[in-house]
Amino acid sequence: MTESEKDSVQQVEAAREAFEREFERFVRFTGEAAGQMSLSLAEAEDERRALGELRTRHTGKKSGLASCKKLIGRVQPEERASFGQLVQQSEAAIAHAFDKAEERLKSFIETARMQRENIDVTIPGRRPRPGHLHPITLMRQRIEDIFVSLGYAVEDDREIETDFYNFDALNIHEGHPARDPQDTFYTTDGFALRSQTSTVQIHAMQRRGAPVRMIAPGRVFRRDTPDPTHNPMFFQVEGLCVDRGITMAHLKGTLAEFVHRLFGPETGTRFRPSYFPFTEPSAEVDYSCFNCGGPGCRICKWSGWIELGGSGMVHPNVLRAANVDPEEFTGFAFGLGIDRTCARIYELDDIRLLFENDVRFLEQFR
Ligand code: FA5
Repeated sequence: MTESEKDSVQQVEAAREAFEREFERFVRFTGEAAGQMSLSLAEAEDERRALGELRTRHTGKKSGLASCKKLIGRVQPEERASFGQLVQQSEAAIAHAFDKAEERLKSFIETARMQRENIDVTIPGRRPRPGHLHPITLMRQRIEDIFVSLGYAVEDDREIETDFYNFDALNIHEGHPARDPQDTFYTTDGFALRSQTSTVQIHAMQRRGAPVRMIAPGRVFRRDTPDPTHNPMFFQVEGLCVDRGITMAHLKGTLAEFVHRLFGPETGTRFRPSYFPFTEPSAEVDYSCFNCGGPGCRICKWSGWIELGGSGMVHPNVLRAANVDPEEFTGFAFGLGIDRTCARIYELDDIRLLFENDVRFLEQFR
């Protein structure tokens, strides 16, 4: 073997050694245990990319192996066959190692991708448990819908009030006996938790002036001992309509229409004379029992009628307190108890159920 032939053989060995050095990190993919390797899908994809780049470097046109192939034609004819064989064997061994690592990585990636996308459509779904509205809220929304369709705005106002809005502006001055049944809770700095939604009459007129047509649903507080028809905290909805030429007939017509829409067109209304300091004249409003229609049953306590709330023509002093001229404007107002109406509709014997929030009770309103 001539010196130049020895050089050629060394060049093949050098190319092979260079390959072995760089391929060492991929040897682990050529063994049988390659499938059980702890490797993430992303890592395996990176390794496959790096393997492809390495293959180009060691078997491509500019590789050491390609240069060796060019030497075959230059060695002596008697040595050419064995040198050619050496180059071919090296090339085959390198290609085989790449193929094996590539094949293992490919199947590892395919399995990992399948596992990732594997969804068992037969597993029963997890049912979400959505909440639901409280019966008082359901009732309030029904009332709001009716009055909004009659052209009323919905007002929301504060629950903590001054004496002026809760009493004085409503014509209930200090020492007035009507303060007694409306006794409420006070904060240490003299504010009152409102005992009726009538406070919003004043705020609404001060804000909007006249004419005004609004309802104000909301929470009110009284020092009432809890019993089947009383809670110390309950809900009312106030109604106020002030304009030129408003009469008691408008009040009666509006509440009659309201009960028709809430309980059905056959429902009757009854107005009983009453007294509220902020209305004159005043009336309690009843509606005919939606269950028996008149003869009497358990729901209407055998009277045929159910109380809706208080009402009347807005007292001139109240209009004045809200800067509305009683010579120009008149109006009617009413205040309905949401809890008691709700209890009648859902046939509850005790309105305290609406306050206690026992989920076994509330879940029935899903
Ligand atoms: C008033 O509160 C007046 N502001 C109503 C009013 C408004 C009259 C506008 C004239 C003009 P009364 O105190 O009667 O009125 O209460 C009205 C309704 O609230 C009652 O019909 C009843 O349904 C409800 N209510 C009163 N006290 C309680 C209580 N402790 N627990 C649950 N509901 C109550």
